[in-house]
Order: sequence, then structure tokens, then C-alpha cells
Amino acid sequence: MKGWIIYRKDLTQLSPEAYEIHRLLSEAEADGIKLEVFRPEQFDLIVTREDEKSILINGEKHELPDFVMPRMGAGTTYFTLAILRQIERLGIYTINNSNSIEIVKDKLFSQQILAQNNLPVPKTMLAKFPVDVGLVERTLGFPVVVKTISGSQGSGVFLAETKRSFRDVMDLIESTNRNANMIMQEFIAPSKGMDLRVFTLGGRAIACFRRRSGDGGFKANFSSGGKVEPYKIAPEIEWLATQTSNILNLDMAGIDLLFDNDHFKICEANSSPGFEGLESCCEGVNIPQELFHFLRIRLGKFSEIEHPHPHHPTPPHPKALQSQLTEG
Ligand SMILES: Nc1ncnc2c1ncn2[C@@H]1O[C@H](COP(=O)(O)OP(=O)(O)O)[C@@H](O)[C@H]1O
Ligand SMILES: [Mg+2]
Repeated sequence: MKGWIIYRKDLTQLSPEAYEIHRLLSEAEADGIKLEVFRPEQFDLIVTREDEKSILINGEKHELPDFVMPRMGAGTTYFTLAILRQIERLGIYTINNSNSIEIVKDKLFSQQILAQNNLPVPKTMLAKFPVDVGLVERTLGFPVVVKTISGSQGSGVFLAETKRSFRDVMDLIESTNRNANMIMQEFIAPSKGMDLRVFTLGGRAIACFRRRSGDGGFKANFSSGGKVEPYKIAPEIEWLATQTSNILNLDMAGIDLLFDNDHFKICEANSSPGFEGLESCCEGVNIPQELFHFLRIRLGKFSEIEHPHPHHPTPPHPKALQSQLTEG
């Protein structure tokens, strides 16, 4: 089985945050999968009706893979989506597909689809300038969460504690860029500083862990220093995560759930979820191995190597020692 990863950095300049790429490459090798990493800029597309192999890498034709895995996250550009669409036209399986990536890049669009499907989401409004502060107060109340439409790792998310700080931040945004696409969202107070991340694959919930803010802030993202611990996958958690993934047509996803007293609200879906935090705390969970197992089944490409799946566990992560198992 052959695959391509589309990733923004060069293989030679892999940075430490590219934990996922390193893990995928080493597990692929162990599983006899030929996995190559390309940057979007290395591709050229030629759209014709005759030539089906109309995709070039570094200006040349390349043997086509069995699957393509874009790992660009919220940094997915129009260019990358165009490459993916071309790859899909050639009949190659993409995880995830271009359509779903485009939908989840837009936090409002994905919330609209989930709400339409009657799933629990925080009440959300699209900002327009000048902002009607009274309407926001009546609809969402304060504190209120302000987010950029597209963003990840917590960088575009702000908590306006009071009406005054909300007015100030919206004035600032308006003066910087009146056309900025922002959403305002009900603050789910019971979830302050923590949330759940569920990793789904092919309609299954593979693992769940709780993230807690490392700095006393309201955001729980692992990438901004949050603490992680495994969390029991109760049926409600599994249903919300798998339904969200299925509705958004994500074969692999990281679903963020907010604690809402005894229940949950769906915060967002990520189409190229990191798994460093997950593997550091969920002992025995090996995401690349699960992924390749799924791909072999999904594509009907069984391993030439015998017994690839009596699980060989993930190499212990340094943070594993600190983690404790928490019951849901
Ligand atoms: N409506 C909300 N109520 C409470 N906490 C929230 C809310 N929205 C986001 N958060 C917190 O902020 C974090 C980042 O928000 P999220 O929408 O997931 O953005 P990102 O795409 O940057 O991860 C979440 O993981 C959660 O801890
Ligand atoms: Mg998030």
C-alpha cells in the first residue's frame, strides 16, 4: 500500500511539533506501507478531459498512491483543496475528503450543519459591524466567546468577560478589519478551562481524553500547554462524536466536546487532529497503527506482512508517566 501525506513543511525541516508526521512515517515503515510527504507547492495540476494522470510532482509524473492524507489543519489553502479535488477525481481515496475539510475549516458552517441535524451546539452568532451589543447581551449574555471563523490551537479564540470588554474587543476588530469573519458564542461555563477531545476513525471512537488549561485560562488546547488525561468513553460521548463525524463525512476526526453539567455540547470538529497529547496519556493507543488498519480494510489492501495487528504498543511517551486514569 502506498500513501502521500500533504504537509506544509519539507521533510528535511520537520520541526518538533511534527510529532504526528514522524509517528506516521515510522509506523508506516513497520507496516510495510510506502508513505511519502509532499508540500502543496510541489504539485502542479493539469486539467484536461483526456489525461487521467494529470497531476505532477516537482514537474514530473509520479506513480499514484492508494490514499492521500492531507495534514494541513486550519492552514488548508485554496491551493491544497484544489490538489485534493484533483486527486479525488483520479479515484484516489483521501482522508479526509476536500469537501469535509472545507466545511470544518469554517466554524460557523459546521455548527450550522450540526444544529440542523439537531445535535447540541453552543448558541452561535455571526458578527457584523457595527455590533449590536444589546442583541448579543439578550441572545448570548456575558461572558461571551469571540472566535475567528477559521483557526486552530486556540489562537483565534477570546473570552470577553463583560459587556465592556466585549465592546472594546469588537471595536478593536472593527478598526483593524471591518470585513473580518468572526463568530460570537454562548460561553459554556461548566467547561471553563477544560474540554474533551474524542478521536474518531471510520465511525468509531478510538480514544477520549480530557484536556485542562495549563495556565488558568479558559482554553483547554493541548498545543497551548494544556494537561491531558484519559477519559472513559460513555455512550453519550461516543454517540455525539461519531454522529458529528458521520454528518460531516469525516473518516478521521478530532471532536471537541464542552462539559455542560451532566451533558455535552459540540465545540468543533478537526479534520487533521493531532495525537501527541492523546498518545502521551492513553496507554496502548497507537493512532497510526489504527489508521493503517482502517485504511487496509477500507481499501481492501491487506498486509503482505503477517500478523500486523496483535497490537505492538506505542513507544512510551515521556508524559505518559505523569498521567492517571480518570473515570468518566
Ligand atoms: N463556547 C465555549 N464555551 C466554553 N469554552 C469554550 C467555548 N468555545 C471554545 N472554548 C474553549 O476554547 C478552546 C478552543 O476553542 P475551539 O473553538 O476549539 O478553537 P480551536 O480551533 O482554536 O481549537 C476549546 O478547546 C475550549 O476549551
Ligand atoms: Mg479546538
